[in-house]
Amino acid sequence: MKQYRWLVIGAGGMAANWLRRFLPAHGERVRIAGIVDVSTDVLATARKDLGLAESQCFTSMAAAYDSVEADAVAIVVPPRFHRQAIEGACERGLPILSEKPVAESWEDVQAIVRATDVAGVPIAIMQNYRQTPRIQTLKRVLDSGRVGAVRYAVGRFAADYREPLAWGAPFRHEMRHALLVEGSIHHFDQLRHLTGQDCLTISGHEWNPGAPSFKGECLALYVMKMSGGAFAQYEGSGLAGGWQNTWHGEAYRLECEGGAIVLDRDHVVRVQEHQRGRGMRVEEMPTVTMPHEGHAAVIGQFMDWLDGGAAPQTTLADNLQSTAMLFGAIEASASGSVVDVQALVADARGHGRS
Ligand SMILES: NC(=O)c1ccc[n+]([C@@H]2O[C@H](COP(=O)([O-])OP(=O)(O)OC[C@H]3O[C@@H](n4cnc5c(N)ncnc54)[C@H](O)[C@@H]3O)[C@@H](O)[C@H]2O)c1
Repeated sequence: MKQYRWLVIGAGGMAANWLRRFLPAHGERVRIAGIVDVSTDVLATARKDLGLAESQCFTSMAAAYDSVEADAVAIVVPPRFHRQAIEGACERGLPILSEKPVAESWEDVQAIVRATDVAGVPIAIMQNYRQTPRIQTLKRVLDSGRVGAVRYAVGRFAADYREPLAWGAPFRHEMRHALLVEGSIHHFDQLRHLTGQDCLTISGHEWNPGAPSFKGECLALYVMKMSGGAFAQYEGSGLAGGWQNTWHGEAYRLECEGGAIVLDRDHVVRVQEHQRGRGMRVEEMPTVTMPHEGHAAVIGQFMDWLDGGAAPQTTLADNLQSTAMLFGAIEASASGSVVDVQALVADARGHGRS
């Protein structure tokens, strides 16, 4: 078994979990070769906790790229720094596993696609929510064909972030398009995953009704036309004062030919089958078990890929579809129009030259 030496960009916030839980879940297969964080306090705590040497800890990405011998880079800093981190890894020819979203701006997404194409490095995006038992249970029912084709999918995220800093890191409360960029990218990716279809067009709105806890947009309502004949509807709220469907408790409902599959915050997948004259049958499905879940599952798949195995589902090439939904949603709201998501994908694949 090959041991992968990881350079981890970011050491606090979500990166603290990568360093202490998600990467160590793979035991001897993983070694932390170096860490980078602009905060010297965060760096010092991580160094102590992980038993690293001073020479493995950096306050600048450039310095780390210059001196750390690594086999892979994990990027776990806020989205506006992803481009710099990815371009640095490309210059070193290093495989990249980056946190979502690909970047904070469409211009940066195009630059990242260009840089990784030119460097030819393997790159995947962390979409951990595909790899959870509740979602895998739902997906298994869909894939079994029991309820037939998906007519439409409904996704709901709702979290009470009405207090300042309720959503963790300050940048989420200060950035533009906060809910879409930091939150909805997960749900757009999930709607693609569950329907097994890409998005053709998207329309709808993001807005901030004047909530003091956010500078940017924190509510979202969208409708999507998917590539296999299904439609999708998305509701996202960072100001939920009622029923909560927050992280890992998102609600999904798949309305299919022969019934519906429903998942809510109780994590139970229910198959609802209505038969005219005989009423409704509701079956609760046993939840699947997984050797690794969420982040750890994707990290394992990424290393399998580097070992010569199958690519993870969420390579950059795939995730560009979810990312185009995100930036299509921003454009749809700004212009009040229906946005052609596949034109955005083609634009990025052509590196923004079309
Ligand atoms: N997949 C998930 O479930 C999930 C959950 C939370 C966050 N995230 C993602 O993780 C990433 C980081 O989010 P976060 O909440 O941890 O952010 P954060 O603001 O807590 O920052 C994480 C760390 O990065 C450091 N940092 C900031 N800028 C840096 C730079 N230029 N160079 C080096 N270090 C820098 C900070 O000091 C901090 O310790 C984002 O892309 C976010 O979307 C993913």
